[in-house]
Amino acid sequence: MTTPASDAVALFEQLTGSTPAGVWSAPGRVNLIGEHTDYNDGFVLPFAIPHRTYAAVGTRDDGRIRVASTFTHDAVEVSLNELQTLFPTPTGSEPAVEEWAAYPLGVAWALQLAGATGTGVDIAIASDVPVGAGLSSSAAIEGATASALNDLWNAGLDRTALARIGRRSENEAVGAPTGIMDQMASMLGEADSAIFLDCRSLDANLVSVGVAEAGLAILVMDTRVKHAHSTGGYGERRAACERGAAIMGVPSLRDVSVDDLARAEGLMDDVTFRRVRHVVTENQRVLDTVQTLRENGARSIGDLLVASHASMRDDFEISVPELDTAVETALANGAIGARMTGGGFGGAAIALIEQSAVQDVTDAVTAAFAEKGFAAPNIFTVTPADGARRDS
Ligand code: GLA
Repeated sequence: MTTPASDAVALFEQLTGSTPAGVWSAPGRVNLIGEHTDYNDGFVLPFAIPHRTYAAVGTRDDGRIRVASTFTHDAVEVSLNELQTLFPTPTGSEPAVEEWAAYPLGVAWALQLAGATGTGVDIAIASDVPVGAGLSSSAAIEGATASALNDLWNAGLDRTALARIGRRSENEAVGAPTGIMDQMASMLGEADSAIFLDCRSLDANLVSVGVAEAGLAILVMDTRVKHAHSTGGYGERRAACERGAAIMGVPSLRDVSVDDLARAEGLMDDVTFRRVRHVVTENQRVLDTVQTLRENGARSIGDLLVASHASMRDDFEISVPELDTAVETALANGAIGARMTGGGFGGAAIALIEQSAVQDVTDAVTAAFAEKGFAAPNIFTVTPADGARRDS
């Protein structure tokens, strides 16, 4: 049976006729709670998932970098010297290379800007992280590539620094104005734990999720509605948050508390206020979720997940009918809590359910999608998994 790891090695061998110097991998992530809070200097609680992206990488002595992947036909090859002329991608433009290749090449570019240099490389990528599902397939590519180049170029950067390299690639090479949650989750993940991350200080603390011990499971319901964060809605939401913070006279919405909301409402238009209210209440929900998990366990966080979804649907307006259907159907079939996860406008929702209910909830959500004429969802369970690593 082939695996993404063996696929990456096979692709490398096909590309170069030799064996790779090593294989590095990084996972996708699910966010338990804390959405659109990362770029507001707020709090998030994601965990790495078992789905991973593998990069089989070898050096070459002609100063060129080539990236190939099993999900595209053509490899993209440029000289390492050329990278500084290819990136950054001007705001609003398409990257100078095919979008998928901008992720790994952008990582090499960002590493150069951080002072790292080294020989040319061939990079062959394979992955089982669903693409466009809101599960951070992009952060997984960045994490695997950054880990490989960090080792091969002896850059000596720590995990947080590599997460920043990944975000820089995503923001400035790909042109998606995202925060740092996905890259931090992919770099810092650990089995059985979620990462409670303060996105202002980048302080990260592991929080035991304890789902299995409680007899529970986390179901991912990928709606198959593809989202893209380099276009439209995501950037508009981010701009609304910046507007709200400016009106409140603070550097970011992290500095606005739930008690300030009454005052905020009088100062801004209704749409901006609702965007602000989502972020401010979501930050509080992350803090409450961490405390509840620590004191009472996973069974007690359901209401917080449900409130988070309602806030994204009604105040932040980033849900879609498929996500609402997944969440509502899971809840109607006994889920303890459910919410969309990730940037929104498509992608996946999660549900916290009894282990014994996995099949029933899967069937119910699948039937509800069919009834509404939606494409069939892709539904599977996940457990918190390890972050980026060298595999061989
Ligand atoms: C995407 C971005 C993250 C974060 C989430 C929303 O996944 O990449 O930085 O903003 O959306 O929470």
